[in-house]
Amino acid sequence: MTTRRATITAVGHYVPGKVLTNAELEKMVDTNDEWIRTRTGISERRILEQGATSDLAVGAIESMLAHRKIEATEIDIIIVATVTPDMFFPATACVVQDKIGASKAWGFDLSAACSGFLYALVAGAQFIESGTANKVVVVGADKMSSITDYSDRNTCILFGDAGGAVLLEPSDDFSSGILDHRLYCDGSGGSYLHMKGGGSLNPPTHETVDKRMHYIFQDGKAVFKVAVKGMADVSAEIMERNNLKSEDVSWLVPHQANLRIVDATADRMGLDRSKVMINIDKYGNTTAATIPLCLSEWWLAGKLRQGQNIVLSSFGAGYTWGAVLIKWSLENRKG
Ligand code: UT7
Repeated sequence: MTTRRATITAVGHYVPGKVLTNAELEKMVDTNDEWIRTRTGISERRILEQGATSDLAVGAIESMLAHRKIEATEIDIIIVATVTPDMFFPATACVVQDKIGASKAWGFDLSAACSGFLYALVAGAQFIESGTANKVVVVGADKMSSITDYSDRNTCILFGDAGGAVLLEPSDDFSSGILDHRLYCDGSGGSYLHMKGGGSLNPPTHETVDKRMHYIFQDGKAVFKVAVKGMADVSAEIMERNNLKSEDVSWLVPHQANLRIVDATADRMGLDRSKVMINIDKYGNTTAATIPLCLSEWWLAGKLRQGQNIVLSSFGAGYTWGAVLIKWSLENRKG
């Protein structure tokens, strides 16, 4: 029986400065702005030209620590959700720990693609609730441009680079914080969305490079169908489990792979679009970074209020999917 609740006490994000627009992609592959906007909702995305995923994570964590006005030496655990680690090993969490000078912290990477942040958030909350840690950093960061094939129009229009972070701390207020979660995976979906090369199954060879196996592969149509159902179902499920009606939910924070998937999820939850955080137009699909990036942007804009019910929801490679219910407890920045 837990005696303390995990709650989000700070948020932060980092996006690189370089913007890749639809117009620029038109020059690289056979596509057009109208198709991309109407089929996906994306207008532009950010590209990290120099550096690695750890730099996106560090940028997000440092802005978060500055908002919370604490030093990195106070952090107990760092969990990095990513599918684009700097290297296979050491873990990106170790690289981040060193770069930010979190001398007391240990940490690990977590791979669950677009659901990575939700998996990591739930994992991090367990350390808080069990009493084994007081300050857990959960960061979602992905340099998707490092595994994107810019000659493949099916995928290169979709992805961007970003990092987003939250700090989890204990609270004795059981009515707020991370209240509930539902997480799922179904490995039978692996063949529709993956990166085949580079791992122990297909170690890197000239052949894996020639066959473009070190890039994202996606059967978009197949993934779309299950993503719509998966994200809508799990979002409705978490509402039902917690007896929430649409008017009780202040915000849906959806993973943003495609605006049509987000719309279907909001419809299923009975939510007006004004209650849905949407930034896919500016950033595309930033994989593990999307959800904390939204939270951070909306908090910075002064749009979050203590006591609001917020549903985080995602679907991604694996397949992995899930939803987390939060009662927001972080003071409004402008309040
Ligand atoms: O990251 C988390 C999990 N991922 C997702 O949730 C993504 C799910 N899938 C999707 O979002 C959508 O399936 C895509 C955005 C990837 C594709 O949209 P779609 O409406 O499913 O298009 P489609 O793949 O059915 O392609 C329709 C047509 C095809 O042409 P034909 O065969 O009808 O002549 C494609 O070749 O659009 C063509 N097409 C393009 N045309 C212009 C595909 N990509 C492009 C492009 N520009 N970039």
